[in-house]
Amino acid sequence: MNRPQANIVIQPTPAEAAQRLLERIAAIITQATLRWSDCHIALCGGTTPRELYRMLATPPLSEEIPWDKVQIFFGDERDVSPDHVENNYRMASALLLDHVPIPLSHVHPMPADCRDMNAAAEQYENLIRRLVTANEDGVPAFDLILLGLGGEGHTASLFPDTPALLERDRLVVAQFVPVIGRNRMTFTFPLINAARNVAFFVTGVDKAKAVEGVLSDDPEIRSRYPAARVRPAHGELSLFLDAEAARNLSHGQ
Ligand code: 6PG
Repeated sequence: MNRPQANIVIQPTPAEAAQRLLERIAAIITQATLRWSDCHIALCGGTTPRELYRMLATPPLSEEIPWDKVQIFFGDERDVSPDHVENNYRMASALLLDHVPIPLSHVHPMPADCRDMNAAAEQYENLIRRLVTANEDGVPAFDLILLGLGGEGHTASLFPDTPALLERDRLVVAQFVPVIGRNRMTFTFPLINAARNVAFFVTGVDKAKAVEGVLSDDPEIRSRYPAARVRPAHGELSLFLDAEAARNLSHGQ
């Protein structure tokens, strides 16, 4: 299987890469809200998107977005309460969602801090199936799924050597991740690959090896990086990178 076709946007700095991604996000929201009712977006967590979310909440751009037609979900969540410093929903709320006029009913945190995480994952999947229109394969198709990339190639909470990598039916699962010693809830590849647009936002030299691996022409190398399995069946895959994260890519890759 060849490496996925992707739009690769490389900018000198994280802020410039974020600016290009913001332009793409605004275009996706405009297109989605003109074509149907709501625009369904899944946010990623971690530290990389912090500045992106802060910029998305800053005028004039933030005032041009029809927030009453945007529905926000989360592609993965840590097993901590919504007010915990490590919670992705808390981070996105502090930097973005608390600063834009998005209806509270349009923000859907992942309930990853409950005792029965499998039941909670199933409930979150049912919520997605209820709110997000399915594609021709019967899978809910997000207008945009934002993803980060771990240094060893994980994305969302799809870590190397974990059962969720092999999931073909469930759209949201919970799993224990040995390498971090924690439980996580995460979208699976069937849901990610049903999206109309998937955008990685990756910065920093510590991600350069994983970026190179994900985009490698060698399937054996790609197989080491879970993020290489992101290949939207009918959608567009983009990578927004700063120069540091892209430093191992050959020119024109
Ligand atoms: C999370 C994310 C995860 C993240 C990568 C990169 O919950 O941590 O969803 O997939 O995107 O781990 O994290 P950084 O941006 O902090 O490097």
